[in-house]
Amino acid sequence: MKVKSTYICRECGYQTPKWMGKCPSCGSWNSLDETIVKEEKKTGAISKATTPSRQISKLNEIKTDTEVRYKTGLSELDRVLGSGLVKGSLVLVGGDPGIGKSTLLLQICQNLAESKTILYVSGEESERQIKLRADRLGVTTENLYLISETDVVSAIECIHQIKPQIVIIDSIQTMNCEEVASASGSVPQVREATNAFMRIAKQEDVSMFIVGHVTKDGALAGPRVLEHMVDCVLYFEGDKQSNFRILRAVKNRFGSTNEIGVFEMAGKGLIEVKNPSAALLEGRNINKSGNCVVCTMEGSRGVLAEIQALVTPTGFGNPRRMSAGVDFNRTVLMIAVLEKRAKIGLSNYDVYVNVAGGLKIEETAADLGICVAIATGKKDLCVPDDMIFIGEVGLGGELRSVSQMEKRLAEAAKLGFTQAICPKQSLKGVKPPEGFRAIGVKDIKEALSYLK
Ligand code: TYD
Ligand code: MG
Repeated sequence: MKVKSTYICRECGYQTPKWMGKCPSCGSWNSLDETIVKEEKKTGAISKATTPSRQISKLNEIKTDTEVRYKTGLSELDRVLGSGLVKGSLVLVGGDPGIGKSTLLLQICQNLAESKTILYVSGEESERQIKLRADRLGVTTENLYLISETDVVSAIECIHQIKPQIVIIDSIQTMNCEEVASASGSVPQVREATNAFMRIAKQEDVSMFIVGHVTKDGALAGPRVLEHMVDCVLYFEGDKQSNFRILRAVKNRFGSTNEIGVFEMAGKGLIEVKNPSAALLEGRNINKSGNCVVCTMEGSRGVLAEIQALVTPTGFGNPRRMSAGVDFNRTVLMIAVLEKRAKIGLSNYDVYVNVAGGLKIEETAADLGICVAIATGKKDLCVPDDMIFIGEVGLGGELRSVSQMEKRLAEAAKLGFTQAICPKQSLKGVKPPEGFRAIGVKDIKEALSYLK
């Protein structure tokens, strides 16, 4: 057996024989850790290959009608998973420490344990701590087994002993394989532990949730190292200050990755937010300059959000630009388009843009909303409080069409909006909801002419 050392990036798992300050794969600084790898010489692979023993199936002989899905009792989570947890699947739940991953997983045990056995392996909390939390969350089921364990082998022995249908590993960074020489939480440890759990999940057909902490600069390996191994990757995100939490699928072998689930952290655990638009618009500024409402698509549903802009004269030096919830570069671009195409002078003004409620908008369909918020902020205008804005803005100031117009308008109508300004060409063949006025415009100048 040969022993050699390599350097592994704890963010992305990149390997290199020599140390570097910056990881060439993911670009993070000072993330390469030295690791001892034992290399076992493989012998006899070819002689093994000459004696075939494996059964090989034809595509049309493989049965697929046996896909079983478990309902978790939280419909927001079920939707993100693609209508329930698939039997035998491995789901990675990532997120910042303290965001609510353990709470979410303990909470779904109550419903899942009605007809199934669950094993909760915690490497972070004692059994007593979990029991206290379970009491708070109202989890009283008899079919939930708890162990406080950090050794992978013992955890797997428990799985063999209890034979659960669902296993929760909280968290993968605390799990330790004795054979791997490096410290727990390092890339080789986390990878080996996940591999072991994956084998057991596929062998025994148990569904498994694996918690992975996202770390910015700590000594733990990030969940990104594991993304390629598991069936489904969910990220739990949100501001610690605000109570809203958003669950997002970034990889899903059994459903779409565009869906989000919205929760609110309350005194007794997470509560589903069935109508995120209403929650995000709560306490909205009405009859105040510099804000407007946009509709963005999050998977299959429209979500309304308020974009706010504060435009103030620059006191000294260069004007400042800041954005939260929308892309910074996109904001700067919109400021340039407003200056050039709508003749709104902003070069002596600081511009701050924010999306209320902590939502992050990635869609360009919010461009028009950003422009309108900034323009009304500068001119001290108010938009009608029953009007929403949808559209991508091009560099020429033209409004470009966006998809799924009907769904967006329906969502707006549901929350009491009665008019929308949108790109003219998006309205072709679109039937707005009853009593709803969809105004098609061709460029940013025309859109701003509707504001008084
Ligand atoms: P937790 O699930 O422990 O986070 P993670 O496992 O992602 O590290 O959540 C911890 C936070 O949630 C903690 O700061 C307290 C808060 N919380 C509530 O507000 N209400 C509750 O009912 C529970 C259980 C936790
Ligand atoms: Mg936890």
